[in-house]
Amino acid sequence: MKMESNELILQNINVGIIFYDSDLKINWLNVKAEELINQFLENKDDSLKNNVSKTILETDLFTNAATTLETGIEQEDEIIVKDNDHKLIKSRLIKNGDNKIKGVIQTIYDITALKKLEKEKEKLNEQFIQAQKMESIGRLAGGISHDFRNILTAIIGLSDLILIEEYPKGEIKKPYVREIRKAAERATELIKQLLIFSRKESLQDQIINPNKLILNNKKMIQSLIGEDIILETNLEHDINKINIDKGQLIQILMNLMVNAHDAMPNGGKILIETKNIYLDNNYAKQHPEILPGDYVAIVVSDNGIGMDEQTKQKIFEPFFTTKKPDKGTGLGLSTVFGIVKHYNGFINVYSEINKGTTFKIYFPSTLKTPNKEHRKQNKRDIYGTENILLVEDDKDLRNMIEKMLRALGYSVTSPESGSDALSIIENNLNKIDLILTDVIMPGISGNDIVKCAQKINPKIKVLLISGYTENIIRNVHINSDIKLPFISKPFSAIDLGYKIREVLNS
Ligand SMILES: Nc1ncnc2c1ncn2[C@@H]1O[C@H](COP(=O)(O)OP(=O)(O)OP(=O)(O)O)[C@@H](O)[C@H]1O
Ligand SMILES: [Mg+2]
Repeated sequence: MKMESNELILQNINVGIIFYDSDLKINWLNVKAEELINQFLENKDDSLKNNVSKTILETDLFTNAATTLETGIEQEDEIIVKDNDHKLIKSRLIKNGDNKIKGVIQTIYDITALKKLEKEKEKLNEQFIQAQKMESIGRLAGGISHDFRNILTAIIGLSDLILIEEYPKGEIKKPYVREIRKAAERATELIKQLLIFSRKESLQDQIINPNKLILNNKKMIQSLIGEDIILETNLEHDINKINIDKGQLIQILMNLMVNAHDAMPNGGKILIETKNIYLDNNYAKQHPEILPGDYVAIVVSDNGIGMDEQTKQKIFEPFFTTKKPDKGTGLGLSTVFGIVKHYNGFINVYSEINKGTTFKIYFPSTLKTPNKEHRKQNKRDIYGTENILLVEDDKDLRNMIEKMLRALGYSVTSPESGSDALSIIENNLNKIDLILTDVIMPGISGNDIVKCAQKINPKIKVLLISGYTENIIRNVHINSDIKLPFISKPFSAIDLGYKIREVLNS
């Protein structure tokens, strides 16, 4: 085809196309892209209209292209230009034959119709969730009526005793009244739980510093868990704020504390941590229910009895409990789940029998623009070409991490089983620059992998990955005296790249 006809096609295609050179100056753009930039200009003040390149600098288009150039990783952003005008922007790096960066090609799609469809789907989904909720309320009514009947039996029985028994005028049997009061208090507690569960009570959201809330309630928490349990905190210094009802956040903490307490009948340790975390597009793509952005993680770990996989699957169901009837109603975690969902957060749980349990709760932070620290990290050194042995038992996760590593430039060997990994280590360790391994896997553990490799080459570089927090891993799971570097799941490609460089350059 002749060049002019190519140009003709590109000019008439219903997709905006912009080519930026390696200095991020616009080198070429088609009519559709120009239209879009004009649309952006309409929403800017007049002084900027005369200076297109300056305006471009301030738009999402530019940020999207700049991030691609910085990280080398394809970027995808959705933006709303006007009320109901949705665009999808994608940028990817263009390299020429000798692998030198030529610039960034950016495509802009109109996804307004798609968004409308999505909204309709969301509505259907909401209706479905509502139906499900009705079902669980049915179950709830069943469970609660049992507890209520017990309480009412006590109240009626005790009242009858007072009425029947003869005693001098004006004198009341105080112990009976006390019992009645106690029963009524239990009923009140139950109602409170129910209301939180069905979220009918009014919430008062405020901007909250989770560290402060935890520290302010430390005494209360300690009295809740008793003296046999040591409470430790490890709070991120510059923690971001979250928008939440204070009472609800305390409720979450209390439910988790009571559970941790129950899981450690002979005492133990609870660790509460907070952490800022940025989840990027890559992560969100793997977890459709999560929007990319800045989150605050509140992490609660215990070293109690833990739970098996089957129990873990059910813990968020209302009325699921493994405790005796007078000890648990099974509403604690379903309440936690309800609150977290309400605030667009999510929960990850990691647990192992007799080792302990970690609950990681993520809330969107109130930061409007991505973390500065994160931006800075973009620019730092994240690429490399070394050989990495990736040991991870979860297939989806393994594939995702492998993709991340390749996007960062590394060569990757990713055996499917722990025993395959061991045989690679035994036969070909000299070809491997870094072992990236999960810590807890069925069969062969990260510890086995590390020990085997260190026997052959004591200086082999290792980076551990795990869903548990660093503290728990170091104290419980890795019995090595050497402090191995560690990255906590979930992580973005940029976090990973940065951490790998840190280990390889050390
Ligand atoms: N930290 C933990 N360690 C071990 N198992 C846990 C932990 N947290 C929760 N579980 C398991 O999950 C189940 C459900 O927890 P949930 O808080 O919803 O109910 P519960 O504690 O049994 O009763 P309730 O909270 O209503 O008093 C528990 O019965 C227990 O089996
Ligand atoms: Mg509980």
